[in-house]
Amino acid sequence: MSTVAWEFEPGDYFRGKKALVTGAAGFLGSHLVDKLLAAGCRVVGVDNLSTGNLANLRAALKNPLFSFIKADVTENLVLEEDFDFIFHLASPASPVDYRRLSIETMLVNGLGTKNLLDLALESQAVFLLASTSEVYGNPLVHPQPESYWGNVNPIGPRACYDESKRFAEALTMEYHRRYGCDVRIARIFNTYGPRMRLNDGRVVPNFISQALRGEPLTVYGNGRQTRSFVYVADEIEGLLRLAAAPHAAGEVVNLGNPEEKSILEFAQLVARLVGVECVIEYKELPPDDPTRRCPDISKAQKLLGWQPKTPLEEGLRATIAFFKQELRLPGEENKDVR
Ligand SMILES: NC(=O)c1ccc[n+]([C@@H]2O[C@H](COP(=O)([O-])OP(=O)(O)OC[C@H]3O[C@@H](n4cnc5c(N)ncnc54)[C@H](O)[C@@H]3O)[C@@H](O)[C@H]2O)c1
Repeated sequence: MSTVAWEFEPGDYFRGKKALVTGAAGFLGSHLVDKLLAAGCRVVGVDNLSTGNLANLRAALKNPLFSFIKADVTENLVLEEDFDFIFHLASPASPVDYRRLSIETMLVNGLGTKNLLDLALESQAVFLLASTSEVYGNPLVHPQPESYWGNVNPIGPRACYDESKRFAEALTMEYHRRYGCDVRIARIFNTYGPRMRLNDGRVVPNFISQALRGEPLTVYGNGRQTRSFVYVADEIEGLLRLAAAPHAAGEVVNLGNPEEKSILEFAQLVARLVGVECVIEYKELPPDDPTRRCPDISKAQKLLGWQPKTPLEEGLRATIAFFKQELRLPGEENKDVR
């Protein structure tokens, strides 16, 4: 595979085109909608608002290029128009959500993915599936390249998410092989940034909201397990590049940050940026929680000319500002950081 030095300008690929974004009111979906609109793309957003929030689309809803449909993509979705791009992001994504909505998660990744692939076939659209690093389960190979098949417990409490994403990937590839559908699969690693929900149970909102409230930061296990975090703007750029790349049909690509941090280091950094003392409360590690996860992004670098750019401190400062506003803390009430 040759290295691509790609001066990527979204407007060159998306201006005047039409995209469907499922999960549009969610964290990643709403940022993707904003970027597509900024590139001059017409966008239809679909969401059943099960974990999303219309407030995330506040700016988009004022844009004449955008329309929103409240619908469940596992049900018959009648859209009498063709699309150039279909971005399938609808799915609960945080462990708290997919435990609560376990069967719904399996359905949106199974039936929902099939419905959208059928639509992509009819429209001859490029189909992009938002998959996840969770397909690697508790990995035995570090860092994880796309060629690694993973170490997943098929009957564990996370299986509703990781196994259904694996099914979604398999289905997507079958549409590519059998029907020649132009598909691309993004394996998204932990992404953070404004519009995450305070109570979604993931480590970034947990630590920031606890630090801002002056509470101890909850660490599961001994805190030596690592995670790598990519800032939302970088992740969205990766998704756009993957959808636009002329040579990426049928490809699966990791989009994440290869820079690992232990959970304890991360807790200390959040506390420092919020300006509080780092007090940790240790709790038992939940079952099947991966001890280490880190992407090998050499394929994204070569195929898409992509790698994360935003320094962790910079991304965290923007995220902290957003959470301050969500918590209505002094000093942030007049800024629009959403
Ligand atoms: N955020 C991350 O770090 C991350 C990591 C890996 C993968 N992903 C994937 O990216 C996608 C978006 O994740 P997110 O973090 O924005 O999550 P999110 O929960 O904020 O957004 C998901 C959106 O999908 C909607 N949705 C769920 N089921 C639906 C259905 N049946 N019909 C229509 N809409 C439905 C929800 O209401 C929500 O707005 C998901 O597919 C997720 O698996 C995210």
